[in-house]
Amino acid sequence: MPPLPEFLLRRLFVKDSLTTETNGFSFQLINSIAPATMLWFSMEVDGKTVLPQNLVLQMGVEEARSGSQISAENPFSLPVAKKITVRVLETDLGSGDLHINIHTREIGSLSFNVKPPQAPSQPRKTAPNQLPSRFQKPIKTDVVIHYDDVIGEIDPNVYGQFIEHLEDCIYGGIWTPDGSALREDTLQWIKDLKSPLIRYPGGNFASGYHWEDGIGPKSTRPLRFDEAWKASESNQVGTDEFMELCQQTGAAPFLVVNCGNGTAEEAARWVAYCNEPASTEQGSRRAENGHPEPYQVKLWGIGNEAWGAWQIGHTDAEHYTRKLRSFAEAMRNVDPTIQLVAVGQAVLSDKPDDAGRLWNETVLSGAGDLIDFLSFHLYQPEREGWQDEYEQNILHHTICAAPLDTERIIVRIKEQIKLLQPERKIGIALDEWNVWLPAPEDAASMHKVAYTLRDSLYTAGMLNVFQRQCDSLKIANLAQLVNVLPLIVTNEKSVYATPLYYPFLLYKEMQNIALQCIVRGKFYDSQALGNITAMQDVPYVDVTATRSADGSKVVLSILNRHPTSRTYVNIDLKEFPKMKLCEGWLLCKDDALAVNSFDNPDNVKSKQIGLPEKRGTRFRLDLPPLSVSILSLRKM
Ligand code: AHR
Repeated sequence: MPPLPEFLLRRLFVKDSLTTETNGFSFQLINSIAPATMLWFSMEVDGKTVLPQNLVLQMGVEEARSGSQISAENPFSLPVAKKITVRVLETDLGSGDLHINIHTREIGSLSFNVKPPQAPSQPRKTAPNQLPSRFQKPIKTDVVIHYDDVIGEIDPNVYGQFIEHLEDCIYGGIWTPDGSALREDTLQWIKDLKSPLIRYPGGNFASGYHWEDGIGPKSTRPLRFDEAWKASESNQVGTDEFMELCQQTGAAPFLVVNCGNGTAEEAARWVAYCNEPASTEQGSRRAENGHPEPYQVKLWGIGNEAWGAWQIGHTDAEHYTRKLRSFAEAMRNVDPTIQLVAVGQAVLSDKPDDAGRLWNETVLSGAGDLIDFLSFHLYQPEREGWQDEYEQNILHHTICAAPLDTERIIVRIKEQIKLLQPERKIGIALDEWNVWLPAPEDAASMHKVAYTLRDSLYTAGMLNVFQRQCDSLKIANLAQLVNVLPLIVTNEKSVYATPLYYPFLLYKEMQNIALQCIVRGKFYDSQALGNITAMQDVPYVDVTATRSADGSKVVLSILNRHPTSRTYVNIDLKEFPKMKLCEGWLLCKDDALAVNSFDNPDNVKSKQIGLPEKRGTRFRLDLPPLSVSILSLRKM
């Protein structure tokens, strides 16, 4: 795993927690990264090392321990979102930096500096002053759509979601904190989304998860909201509960088996538990748990990010391919009709030795005969693109251009599949994706990103790419549905949707056949950031067109990425003479950084709009900056 950036590590330090005491000083730490085990803790103040016996660490009301009592044999656990008080005895705070060193079992050494507060902090940079949009010249965009120029059929699974046993996604998010029931309020938001596919139980979590721990009788002791972790430790939510979520929302299940510290036999038993009739050994276990009818789970992922140093059981491509073969054979012996998703990797460049390209080559050549999908994950701009501050106008253009970089990655993988498995129809599964920038400073973890309207333009841009690449991209799962990099946010009492939710809601209107569109408009060049490459000629206005199989309905998506200019879009429908505009929806706001919150849940939200009259075969739309519009046409 690459070293974590220092600014992220500094967030372990609880802001304003530094307190001078009679015999030294104290401060607090909070781990918002991932659960870890501390094997060593040391500190320097003003360049001088503090004696280990003068460092006292305490989590909540647990027993306090000195630095000299923390070691590999006697580790100190660092769960997520739990405050740890550090008392530094017999030491003056001094005026220089505090240097903190923590050695962990999971992510190695973490070292960072904290400045004792002296001057008031600097205000954050904002976008340079720009003219209000009403004074800017609108962008002119011309669109021609050809009725018979079909790109392909869009698989509904590209609008899928992902949920994981991570923080409060499951307990307190989708289920009640004790895991005894689905939360009715969250469920309603998920149902409205009509998600076609949900991936579960991870993610990284899948690589250490033994599914048999999550079935059978469950504890009936109700838990308070702040005790949800107890339910997670006792596996209250498992396969049967997940299947209930799928049944209630109409989503198809996509299960990921443990290829980290699990075995092929364990994975095969899971297939049997889900898909065999009640008369069999595993089927009868399911029936005893109240579910006599097989679940018929079609889609199975074999492992998660097996190439990543942070993954339990991570390995090289050759070893993963051998494991993949043995898992695939054992699982298909139980049910030959299942479809398998292999772990692949994003091909980030055209270089022949690109790490993702090499991984995929090995998997495709060694197990391409057995798999149905090759997956990759993409978080943009990923951690190497994280900074303390951003110039917002540049960031806006980069994030809005990032889907086009994704499109290049999809095309590279498609070419690899064509070259190495020309006879097989192996689809691409982007089974974790999202924009991932640092969470606000006071957030409980790095997964609590405050998604903005800009990020919903990114999301719509991604969905447009999925439609254009529908001949190869067959599955995509936004990571994640609730509370972790969230589409939906919950607390004890209520639920709101982030701006990422609305493109998904709007794209439900889109039809299955993707059509070619020719778009002429204004372009921009964007800068590189983290894993997003610099791009030239990014269109400000991005259009996709879809139609129903029977041809009676055409639905367009029009995205205006421009931060301040409106766009006049001229659409020529000469090949659709009998069609009439019938409905339209708009997602927009005059602030790219607008967010939703518990206090203002509807700040960014889509709405229905009135439509212009068609003039001959054309119509002209006047669309605001920072907007996503969906327009539907029907045969008159
Ligand atoms: O979505 C959060 C985590 O990011 C997932 O568990 C993992 O697969 C990815 O690295």
